[in-house]
Amino acid sequence: MSRIAYVNGRYLPHRAASVHIEDRGHQFADGIYEVIAVWKGRPVDLAGHFDRLETGLRELKIPMPANRPVLAHVLREVVRRNKVTDGIVYLQVNRGTAPRVHTWSQGIKPSVVATARPMPAIRKQVIEDGVKVISVEDIRWKRRDIKTVGLLPNAMAKQKAAEAGCYEVFQVDADGMVTEAGASNAWIVDQQGRLVTRPLGHEILPGITRATLIDLARANGIEVEERAFSLEEAKQAREAFVSGTTAFVMPVVQIDDAVLGNGKPGSVATRLRALYYDHLNAIPADAWTHVAS
Ligand code: PDD
Repeated sequence: MSRIAYVNGRYLPHRAASVHIEDRGHQFADGIYEVIAVWKGRPVDLAGHFDRLETGLRELKIPMPANRPVLAHVLREVVRRNKVTDGIVYLQVNRGTAPRVHTWSQGIKPSVVATARPMPAIRKQVIEDGVKVISVEDIRWKRRDIKTVGLLPNAMAKQKAAEAGCYEVFQVDADGMVTEAGASNAWIVDQQGRLVTRPLGHEILPGITRATLIDLARANGIEVEERAFSLEEAKQAREAFVSGTTAFVMPVVQIDDAVLGNGKPGSVATRLRALYYDHLNAIPADAWTHVAS
């Protein structure tokens, strides 16, 4: 089956789907994206993804290309046309197409692309065993809260991890503190048994999964401390895990050469993963259409 993409008003097979060579997303990484999980055909935390999309576009002074119900309709249609039940739908909004100069003019029309595909399968064994991460220097720009398509540092870091047989990276800032992973947020359970993740700010992406997990933890009597933690602290933590749209909750059992605890996924990560599945299974049937404009 040929995959179908949405490009600027049309649904096209991938081989026929393209954007202009002078699209600013292509030339300047001048665009914002979202990856939204699809669970049993329903979107996961759609409102949160739209909120973050809008915030990012506002920061870059790119207009919303359409209102939320229209974008939700497009995403649902891409999911439907690609027969995705459990997977992801990807949305990218670029500033638009113009002759290549750094500045942009006001009237430029945003370009919109959406694609969908089945969830990259994570083997059950991987979740049961946990994964390894390596630490890398965080060499990204200073506005990591904006989900731009400028992902080269993330791609390079994740490539390094993959070549080292690791699932993810812990990115470390100039002060030795962990910012986040390469495509997910980083968490630990510290020596005192407290669940810790870095506070929001310009240093990390405000993960939608992160926000949901904080709510789920608190609603279930698990305290969450939002504070920065160092790489050294992480290596001595009882547990660690990463969270994200494709990872859900992925237990980390080794950071560089340091094996955490008994080298098995910890109880807090395992519990949060179970709570997250409950959250997924409770997504209402009207989640695509129940979208505020
Ligand atoms: N990545 N941090 C970074 C740098 C990310 O790229 C992502 C998501 C996250 C987790 O955010 P969320 O919970 O909203 O997925 C944190 C997506 C999945 C990607 O780039 O493919």
